Formats: sequence, C-alpha cells, structure tokens
Amino acid sequence: MNFPLLHGLAWDAIIGATLLFPYIAQMPKSLLGNLTAEQFLSDYWQKKPLLIRQAVSQFDWQPELADLIALATQDDVESRLIENKQGKWSCESGPFRPNRFKRLLPTDWTVLVQNVNHHVPFATELLYRFDFIPHVRLDDLMISYAPAGGGVGPHFDSYDVFLLQVGGKKRWRISAQTDLDLAEDAPLKILKRFEAEQEWVLEHGDMLYLPPKYAHEGVALEAGQTWSIGFRAPSAQEMGGAFLDFLRDRIELDGLYADPNLQKPIDPARVPYDFVVRIKAMLDGIRWNEAEVREFIGHYFSEPKAHVFYDSPDEEDSEPAFARKLAKQGVQLDMKTVLLFDDARFYINGETLDAGLDAIEHLRQLANQRRLPPAVYPATLIAALYPCYQYGYLHLG
Ligand code: SIN
Ligand code: CO
Repeated sequence: MNFPLLHGLAWDAIIGATLLFPYIAQMPKSLLGNLTAEQFLSDYWQKKPLLIRQAVSQFDWQPELADLIALATQDDVESRLIENKQGKWSCESGPFRPNRFKRLLPTDWTVLVQNVNHHVPFATELLYRFDFIPHVRLDDLMISYAPAGGGVGPHFDSYDVFLLQVGGKKRWRISAQTDLDLAEDAPLKILKRFEAEQEWVLEHGDMLYLPPKYAHEGVALEAGQTWSIGFRAPSAQEMGGAFLDFLRDRIELDGLYADPNLQKPIDPARVPYDFVVRIKAMLDGIRWNEAEVREFIGHYFSEPKAHVFYDSPDEEDSEPAFARKLAKQGVQLDMKTVLLFDDARFYINGETLDAGLDAIEHLRQLANQRRLPPAVYPATLIAALYPCYQYGYLHLG
C-alpha cells in the first residue's frame, strides 16, 4: 500500500504524526530496505540482483509444513513435489494424498504451493505490498518448503522474482551467465552448466530480487521456506493468440466472396490466384485500435486462473441491506479477485464493471487498496458493487 502523504516528511514530523494518526505507527516497513521504490525501479528492476536483509520483519502468519501439505491436497491449489534421489530429479504435480508426504526421505526434496495469496489473507496482503509494481504485472505468492539439502536445482525463471526466506536458512548462488542451455533428460528446468558468481545465506526475513533469466540455485542449509513473489511477463506469442481470440468475438466484416469475371480453369483443383487475392482483401479488413487493445488487456489480465472459483455469500443480503452494511462495515475484495482499471473502464475477474461517474473515485480506491472503509457511498457505486458481492468477488467487512 502506498502512503503518498508521507513523501518528503521529516522523521520528527512522522513521529509527531503517529500521536495523531496511530495507524502510521503500525505501517509496515518498506520491503526494499533503505531503497525507495523509485531507486529500486531505476537501478535494479529488470537490471540486476538485489539482496535485502530483513526486508520483512513481521509475519502475522507463518505456516508449518503440515499447513502447506494441507493446501497441497486441495483440488483448487496448484502444487508440486520435487525430489532429487542420487542425482536424479523427479517432479510430481498435486493435488496430493496426505500419505504421499509420509514416504519422503529426510532430505533432498521441496514441496511448492502456488497462489497461496488466494487462500491466506496475510499472503494476499504481502503480495500487494509489492504494489510499487502495477497490479497487472503481479502474479502470485508461491511458498516452498525444503528440509536441509532441499532445492529445485540450478535454473532460471523467465520473469522477475523476489525470494523471501521464512524460517530456516538457504544458500543462494547466482550467475549472470548467458549459457542457459537446459538438461534434456530432467523433468524440470535444470541448467546443464551452472557457474555461480555470487552467493549468500538468507535467513528469516531476508529477500533476494532476481531479474528475468538470471541463473540461480537455492539449497536449504536448515529446514525452512522460500516465499516467491512472481510477476507476469506474457510472451508476444501468448498475447497474439489471446488477442486474436478476443477479436474473433468482436469483428464484424462486410462482404461476400464474388467472382463475376470467372474464367474456366485449366486445372479445376488448383486454387486460383484471384481467389487468394480476394480472400486476402477480406482479411485486410480486420482492424483494431488502441481502445480495443486496452479492453483486451483489462479482460485478459483480470481473468481468473483455471482453478479459481468464487463463493457467493451463504445468506445473501438484499441490495438495501448490502448498502446499509457497506456504510457500517466497508467492503474488501476477495483474495482471488483482480480489479483493474484504465482511463475508460474497470475490469473485474475478466468482466467489464460498469459504473456511473460518481462511483469512479471510489472504485479506483477499491482497486488500488483492495478495500473501502465504512462510509455512505453513492447509489451508482452500490449498484456496481452489489452484483460483485452476489458473485463472491468482494465481501462486507
Ligand atoms: C524455491 O522456492 O526453492 C525455488 C524458487 C525459485 O528458485 O524460483
Ligand atoms: Co527460480
């Protein structure tokens, strides 16, 4: 969460202000140590690694292995188990039966649980503390647990990642090497050759930032967890395919094939050149503009992942009752909800969210901060929020 009011204030002003505004005293420390978000973005983001000692000092939730196993057994949670037995890697995907974890060796394995931010409020809050990066780029918070010796091997990721150590100790070795050839026979991405250039031992609360394609390997020295904050970096191929899907439902092209001057063919089975030219002319009629690209982005990047479902309220309030409770309790987005906006529209979980003019500022606040405080809000906002409440996209209180 950003606190723009604090920019440029002297420390004594801040300390004085805490007497007036106690919430400032509880404000979590920056995740970037002594760096401002602006310094981080200009000097490190997508450029070079950064180690931040004690990036996170307060954990309101810290799972045991049993909690992670419980998540890894759920149908709506993506999880993996990676083992290295005598130098041979194996990778299994969840959901797992709890018994699976009883058959593990004391060392050399890692269990990884993705999208923990969809299930645990503290994980959601932590993920959105990375909002010095736009929400549209945030992907998920993944947690891995490894006993001593556990790791997922030397590899690189295609996207930026923050690796936060939670409990235990892990030795990270990294390399700017450009040789990114992968072992052919491994069931997961393992670098054929890895030549470490730097290494650190991360302890509880320490965090390492790595730009995309930076080779790295983490090996647990003591049992512990790595919380990975990952980012979305779509490939041009993914965008092209998805945009064409989006466009297919929207294009309206006029005209019907016609060939009034048709000549008798020598080879009737040959596709006539004129036929190609006329079809190409039809396809040249496919056009798009920036407004359509914006709309595509809003839908595509707020679309829920495949395994995501929302729960409607058990006892649904009527719209007037919802409005009364909103005034008293406020509202917050569901942990799985993505609410984005551009200059023209709001997009929630893959759909457009229409709203009257006087709702816009409130919806922007809800999108940025993921909650709205208790207050009397305009009827247009209530009209926009009520269906979202019915679908389980947001919750009172
Ligand atoms: C891990 O959690 O051990 C692996 C995370 C990563 O290297 O990206
Ligand atoms: Co990685």
